[in-house]
Amino acid sequence: MPEKKGAEGLSIGIIMDGNGRWAKQRGLPRTAGHKVGADVFDDIALYAKDIGVRALTFFAFSTENWQRPKDEVKAIMDLFGQALKRIEKYRKEDNQVVFLGDRTPLLPEYQKRMADIEAKTAHRTGMILNIAINYGGREELVRAAQQLAQEAADGKIKPSDIDNACIEKHLYTSGQPMPDFILRTSGEHRISNFMLWQSAYSEFIFVDTLWPDFTPAHFDAAVAEYHRRDRRYGGL
Ligand code: FPP
Repeated sequence: MPEKKGAEGLSIGIIMDGNGRWAKQRGLPRTAGHKVGADVFDDIALYAKDIGVRALTFFAFSTENWQRPKDEVKAIMDLFGQALKRIEKYRKEDNQVVFLGDRTPLLPEYQKRMADIEAKTAHRTGMILNIAINYGGREELVRAAQQLAQEAADGKIKPSDIDNACIEKHLYTSGQPMPDFILRTSGEHRISNFMLWQSAYSEFIFVDTLWPDFTPAHFDAAVAEYHRRDRRYGGL
């Protein structure tokens, strides 16, 4: 019998999409969808850790999401603040928590919590739990370019020293494995500025399920779909 391949060691990115539509289908405000979405975020993060995922990245808020109505932005930020409080209490999960994105426009209280969580979990050896908040893949690359240009201007590196590894070192995901697959829920087939550099050789898995309906069984199905793919990295 062929070996049943699981999720051990995989790096996975998730675009949690469909909260608004889920709420609309039920005649509820969009924020109700985000609230259930935040519970599903917890469930999937815990499940992924249990089944041995190496790194899990959630797209919680994009650089473009500020354009949404003020009350929706506030609701998502409140949910993020509540998630920070829960994450601070995680112990047995042994997750290393990393926040991807420009945190400077976030509440100072959140920024402090985020820095504390990162510092306290940096040594951990369990799953890497990345939360992308005010994150954009283009902005991440612009930031890397600015940092490298500054290093060149300071005479620390030569422009010809800049290679793939050098750029990767300046991404928010520095030192982490590239995603094996990126999953997007809700039937949309777009990358929406998520992990642009990191996804160069990732598989893309799109499922119709709306994020608030997403369960560990859907997660298992995505992992199984990933194992059916034939990754060649440009070779044969
Ligand atoms: C996409 O659905 C979802 C978001 C833009 C926000 C995701 C946020 C959460 C799940 C909760 C807060 C985060 C954490 C980490 C606890 P959508 O609103 O675009 O749905 P739609 O496409 O159906 O309108």
